[in-house]
Amino acid sequence: MLNKITVVGAGNVGATAAQRIAEKELARTVVMVDVADGIPQGKALDQWESAPVELFDSRVIGSNGYDESAGSDIVVITAGIARKPGMSRDDLLNTNAGIVKSVAEQVAKTSPKAIIIVVSNPLDVMCYVAMKASGFPRERVIGMAGVLDTARYRSFLAEALDVSVRDIQAMVLGGHGDTMVPLISYTTVSGIPITQLLAKDKLDAIVDRARNGGAEIVKFLKTGSAYYAPSSGAVQMVEAIAHDQKRILPCSAWLQGEYGMKDLFLGVPVKLGAKGMEKIIEVTLTDDEKAALAKSAEAVREPMGVIKL
Ligand code: LAC
Repeated sequence: MLNKITVVGAGNVGATAAQRIAEKELARTVVMVDVADGIPQGKALDQWESAPVELFDSRVIGSNGYDESAGSDIVVITAGIARKPGMSRDDLLNTNAGIVKSVAEQVAKTSPKAIIIVVSNPLDVMCYVAMKASGFPRERVIGMAGVLDTARYRSFLAEALDVSVRDIQAMVLGGHGDTMVPLISYTTVSGIPITQLLAKDKLDAIVDRARNGGAEIVKFLKTGSAYYAPSSGAVQMVEAIAHDQKRILPCSAWLQGEYGMKDLFLGVPVKLGAKGMEKIIEVTLTDDEKAALAKSAEAVREPMGVIKL
């Protein structure tokens, strides 16, 4: 068990992530930090009061500042405003860049050895803001998007094939947006290529639904965006680091020549362990996938060029 994990942002994603972290006992202390008066304290106390029933010994505490979070091993940044119907993730750009910048600066001051997992949107650009503002090396700033996008894709495939979600292996790469790249050539059901089990038109429809998975939820909820699956995705990454699992998960990482790209965060297969992003795995892509990844990179570079840091 780690000593301390902090979740910044006590909204739906942050609070659900904190609860999942506590229930999995990934750290002795789980700190929820949020600027809203009373919210992190109230939610943390409520979660801690569930401990005798859910049977976890992680102590959950809430705070409006960073003193309690000092010395955290992992900090999950979920702070920022969420999408409203009709808003793209990029609409959130400047507001959330300011928020993530100030959070990352505080984290660098109070938890200089932490590994940061960014969840705030637009995801890949917010990872860049967090890395710049914290001054942390790329191994310690990783974005959560691919795990969520892949989970959506896997859940739709499991439903269409009427098989267990456990048996669907897949990888969604690229930016966390409409240009994300589900790798059909690496999608299997217990090793069986998906193209042997599902007709092309059905597969195309599922890929499209996965790409728009976030917007589908926003449309239902009207006043907010998804949080159960996003928090699951973030906590799977926390768990891989906390238990040094060396899991291979699609995460947003700072590319330095991998996939022929440099100086941007993009979703790629990553090995996650105690040191954070321990390795970027380069897989062979089809020409179509290469082109789609390049297009997705452009969709990340454009907002990156607009923000002022
Ligand atoms: C989504 C938001 C969180 O994909 O980006 O649901």
